[in-house]
Amino acid sequence: MNLHDKPFDETTIVKLKLFEDYAQAWIPTFVMQDYLKEIHIFDFFAGTGYDVDGVAGSPIRLIEKIIEQRGNIFQKQIRIILHLNEFDKTKFELLISSCSSKLKQEKGIEHFVALKYYNQDFEILFPQLFPIIKDFPSLVYLDQNGVKFLSNQYFKKLEETKQTDFLYFASSSYIRRFGELNEFKIHLTNIDVEQLKNTDYNKVHRNLTEQLRKNISPSSNLKLYPFSLKKNTNIYGVIFGASHVRAVEKFLNLTWKYNGLNGDANFDIDNESSLIQFDLFEGQKLTKVESFKQIVKEKILSQEIKTNYQLLNFVYENGHIGKHADQCVKEMKKANLIFYNSKSPCVTYESVFRKKIIVNYEKI
Ligand SMILES: C[S@@+](CC[C@H](N)C(=O)[O-])C[C@H]1O[C@@H](n2cnc3c(N)ncnc32)[C@H](O)[C@@H]1O
Repeated sequence: MNLHDKPFDETTIVKLKLFEDYAQAWIPTFVMQDYLKEIHIFDFFAGTGYDVDGVAGSPIRLIEKIIEQRGNIFQKQIRIILHLNEFDKTKFELLISSCSSKLKQEKGIEHFVALKYYNQDFEILFPQLFPIIKDFPSLVYLDQNGVKFLSNQYFKKLEETKQTDFLYFASSSYIRRFGELNEFKIHLTNIDVEQLKNTDYNKVHRNLTEQLRKNISPSSNLKLYPFSLKKNTNIYGVIFGASHVRAVEKFLNLTWKYNGLNGDANFDIDNESSLIQFDLFEGQKLTKVESFKQIVKEKILSQEIKTNYQLLNFVYENGHIGKHADQCVKEMKKANLIFYNSKSPCVTYESVFRKKIIVNYEKI
């Protein structure tokens, strides 16, 4: 089936929006750094550029996000190289024409932005381009059909990188359904299909990410976060990977903006809307954010967490954002459970990692 023969569906649009919004956050971060001369973006499964209705796909959205930053790019004289790959010859030709004309609309930008096109199988191209991915600040999109390229062969390489952020697409429920087939087994030796089968169907993408996380070598700083996507009866998802806290903060801020209930899906993955109703037998159950606040409170009261630095790291480890913990710490101060010598609890990336402010939470 040729994906681009039909319009992008609603779930695809959510995925593309996530790709695009992350690029919007990523590009200025690197463009604005004085010491950098060159940054790279890779779209290894780029498609044609637009769907049949002219809705932009990932490569066009990436170009748009680059163009948005033209002022900064000109000022900093930084080069952005956008690598676009598409295996299918017909799609590849469409890709070249749509992307080249898009970039041409922006006069002067060609001095700073280069588009590199490849018509290759990812399997061949990835090892060839890997030295660039590893040596430069890179943003990598892996919008595969299916799951095959989630294998260790590629995942372990990305684990070696220190300044690479990636967004991997996976058709997670397919592994659960077809994981026993040889075709899957030979590629996905890093995934326990039985475990996926024993997982609540809606949470299959979360479990997949969890399994990949457990597989990361202890020497790597790579952090992985899932964003599950439901389309009809299928569960797909994006796996975000990065080694730097700043990247993690940017990604989690986006996903919690998309879904303030759970921050990791485009649907009610934990059935939380039903929790709002009072449970006759167990009383009021807590939502994901409420239970997280409860845990934060306990950890501060037991002094397992004593500072904003420890707290923010705990927040990100658990896929939350600073705001969730910030409210909880403020409430604890108000209730005279703790004291801190600061106007705010400072559970933000800005305070902890940029300004390096340390706030001690003392139990009263
Ligand atoms: C999910 S689509 C990508 C859609 C694209 N990101 C967009 O926004 O339009 C996956 C694309 O990968 C291409 N593809 C499939 N197998 C490939 C491979 N082994 N190497 C490179 N591209 C491949 C397909 O032709 C298809 O266009």
